[in-house]
Amino acid sequence: MDLQLKDKVALVTGAGSQIGYGKAICLTLAEEGCHIIAADIDFEGAKRTAAEAEALECRALAIKVDVTKTVEVDAMVAQTINKFGKIDILVNNAGASSELRPFMEMTEGDWQFDIGVNLIGQMRVARAVLPHMLARKYGRIINTSGGQGMPDISIYGAAKGGVVQFTKALAREVGDKGIFVNAVGPGLGKTGLVWRAPKEMLEGEKGASMLNRLCEPADVANVVAFLASNKCSYMMGQLVQLGTS
Ligand SMILES: NC(=O)c1ccc[n+]([C@@H]2O[C@H](COP(=O)([O-])OP(=O)(O)OC[C@H]3O[C@@H](n4cnc5c(N)ncnc54)[C@H](O)[C@@H]3O)[C@@H](O)[C@H]2O)c1
Repeated sequence: MDLQLKDKVALVTGAGSQIGYGKAICLTLAEEGCHIIAADIDFEGAKRTAAEAEALECRALAIKVDVTKTVEVDAMVAQTINKFGKIDILVNNAGASSELRPFMEMTEGDWQFDIGVNLIGQMRVARAVLPHMLARKYGRIINTSGGQGMPDISIYGAAKGGVVQFTKALAREVGDKGIFVNAVGPGLGKTGLVWRAPKEMLEGEKGASMLNRLCEPADVANVVAFLASNKCSYMMGQLVQLGTS
């Protein structure tokens, strides 16, 4: 199936991790013909991802951004519009977690961190990008959910649950204006976020998987590429959850 993504402009946050889902999303979209903006708080990582995307013969730009800072997010969008003239696709992939801790040992600073990056961060980037999509009556927004209801990451999970409800509501607000909003829920994978997780947790998740393996970046990237395309033509406000949970 040709996803018809040639010359679409895709902004991907959290694209700097060299073992993360964001980089795989950038490279898959680049292979499909998109131009790529690789944005991350880790600028060196973003530059490496952008360079690999460019080697796939697309145009690419690396931007340093902290999604918890409105000034930086607005500047990222302005820089993108300045260079590419439009944003067709936003992949709200940046995410992070405070230390694994039972709820009663977490600080309010931990709560603010988890919700600030994982929920408000995605809202902030969507708010900055949407006026440009609305002006052209075209857009694809893919938000990133994640593990919910899990011990020791309770507030991260609460933020990721919030992403699902935000996705549903926003899809209803802008769907009739040509903007499709959906979310992906990656399975547990050994990315930058998770590589320090206890071995038992990773083994347990692997065992629970029908495939007896963890989630790979390509598993996420292929789903995102579909959600970013016009082949996703009658699906809005949905969470595509990978894995068995
Ligand atoms: N790995 C998993 O098991 C898993 C499962 C479900 C959901 N997710 C989600 O997938 C997404 C990608 O994470 P990953 O697993 O590839 O981890 P990762 O750590 O490899 O990548 C996350 C990237 O986000 C960037 N980032 C963090 N805070 C940022 C900020 N404030 N501003 C800009 N960039 C920031 C990091 O620098 C990093 O490059 C995240 O939203 C994560 O919550 C991951």
